[in-house]
Amino acid sequence: MSDSQPETIRDASGRGLFAISPHLILPETQGRFSVYLRQDGKLVLYAARGETFTIAHRERLSAMGVRQIWIESEDRADFDAYLRKNIGRILSDETIPEAERAEAWFEVSTDLAQEIFVSHLPRSVSIKRFAKIESLLRESAGFFRTPEALRELSRLLSKGFKLFHHGLGVMILTASVLDASPEVGPEVAAAASLGALLHDIGLTRLPQALTEKNPQQRTPEEEALFRGHPTLGVAACSALPLAPETLHAILFHHEREDGSGYPTGLAGRDIPLHVKVVALCNVYDGLIRPAPWRPAFSPYEALSAIKSDRRGFDLELLRRLILVLANAKIT
Ligand SMILES: [Fe+2]
Ligand SMILES: [Fe+2]
Repeated sequence: MSDSQPETIRDASGRGLFAISPHLILPETQGRFSVYLRQDGKLVLYAARGETFTIAHRERLSAMGVRQIWIESEDRADFDAYLRKNIGRILSDETIPEAERAEAWFEVSTDLAQEIFVSHLPRSVSIKRFAKIESLLRESAGFFRTPEALRELSRLLSKGFKLFHHGLGVMILTASVLDASPEVGPEVAAAASLGALLHDIGLTRLPQALTEKNPQQRTPEEEALFRGHPTLGVAACSALPLAPETLHAILFHHEREDGSGYPTGLAGRDIPLHVKVVALCNVYDGLIRPAPWRPAFSPYEALSAIKSDRRGFDLELLRRLILVLANAKIT
């Protein structure tokens, strides 16, 4: 795939098809879509729907020098589901060129972001905002074309979709609240939104059992270990050329207005505004998702819980978050 929209064609019968890189079809997987080759201007069925792709398939394509394979446009949703299922493997497959892995990440992320928009935001509000998120994701994908960044993304996704989905959810809210915050310029907003996407990357360094344990039941040792995840996150990203605002978001996303947060206990004016937004959106997005120890809060319940902790959050930013959500008619 290229940086632009995937190339599409129509065959003689008017059927639409789009091109993908043959690298994205992994050996020992199956897709609910057929794969076609284009030979002498004609489309030839290469693998039928449901057929298992094999190493021989991949080797043959590479021996033939095939750079694009074709999928029917009406199978787009099935191809997206296939990508989503296999994205962890694709990202960590070093035989796939980095640009193509980053592109696959972009496809999956945009698809997931779209789903978040459809389930949380009405059409009228979402079109403009979604375009903005799409361009943020596009920028991130360009930036993630390094082996180190791809390795981190693969870790984030290999913990299952939950952590990544939460990152995307916090990114969408953060970008929307910062959009309504004239104190923050577009570059800082973009860097903080990227930090929102990656904020919990340090959790990938902790045992899964700990990350899924009811916080009320953690031992003091477990609590200390858990509270190390923002620092672990910054360490994990140390090889990536991240902007300071991105690193701030990762390191300080559990700080609170009254200084009761971690890892540093920074308070009030010492916390940059873009970080406060990430911290607030993180709590909201965390609450509206189910956790292994409790069901999901409704948007109303989540906002009420945040409001009841008045000293923990900046009330003006909470007002802006409520406005973003109220616009979206989900409260
Ligand atoms: Fe966190
Ligand atoms: Fe989080």
